[in-house]
Amino acid sequence: MRIGILGSGLMGGKLGTLFARAGHEVVFSYARSEQKLKRLAREAQGNARAGTPGEAAHEADALLLAVHWSRVDDVLKQAGDVSGKVIVSCSLPMNADNTDLVIAHTSSGAEALAKRVPKARVVSAFNTVPSEVLFGVFEARRRATRPSLVYCGADSRSKRIAGRLIRDVGFDPVDAGPIRIARYTEPFALLVAQLAYEGDGGPELAYRFERFAK
Ligand SMILES: NC(=O)c1ccc[n+]([C@@H]2O[C@H](COP(=O)([O-])OP(=O)(O)OC[C@H]3O[C@@H](n4cnc5c(N)ncnc54)[C@H](OP(=O)(O)O)[C@@H]3O)[C@@H](O)[C@H]2O)c1
Repeated sequence: MRIGILGSGLMGGKLGTLFARAGHEVVFSYARSEQKLKRLAREAQGNARAGTPGEAAHEADALLLAVHWSRVDDVLKQAGDVSGKVIVSCSLPMNADNTDLVIAHTSSGAEALAKRVPKARVVSAFNTVPSEVLFGVFEARRRATRPSLVYCGADSRSKRIAGRLIRDVGFDPVDAGPIRIARYTEPFALLVAQLAYEGDGGPELAYRFERFAK
């Protein structure tokens, strides 16, 4: 598949690299320096290049949205028309200092995003896992037991695509239902992050949570 990465930081940089290594064609976009995007593309060791958000979106089978909540409008504006596009979003609706969700319980970032781009097909995925574990999961992907990863979304075609990408990274995808389920997965993601970064166990603990989710 052709995958456009919108936001090439911790999540977008790593997931884009793994998508390329899994055989997809990847365009890294949206970082503060073009050099960084080119370096990511070079180091991905697959079919990857640097581009603008517009180039990443053009002819993409799926877009990975991986920016801070405050940058969502800007990156989408730069991406242009995303009608009909599958948008796999790992972006959580966090406040400026990343201490709390700005949308929670009665709605979610994924639902707000789906309203913002009503003609796109939004799937919420990868946001329950810290970026630190992604390469380890990929390296262990041929083991019999894979960690599970929950995702949710509105239509079956976009969920098939998200499920494949989740599997390619090395997780066992668990379909949690329609997009409104993000109301429950996003606070869960915050809990996982708090355990991972403020507890004693580090990212390994969050990884175990994914395993238990099944
Ligand atoms: N990190 C995690 O473990 C994790 C886990 C679950 C969910 N999430 C969610 O995933 C999303 C992305 O998180 P992240 O940790 O990957 O964030 P990040 O490392 O800060 O990446 C964000 C990307 O946006 C780019 N960017 C920011 N401002 C920009 C601007 N003005 N112009 C152009 N590019 C700009 C950054 O550029 P630079 O590369 O130049 O900085 C970076 O490439 C967030 O919504 C977060 O809540 C993260």
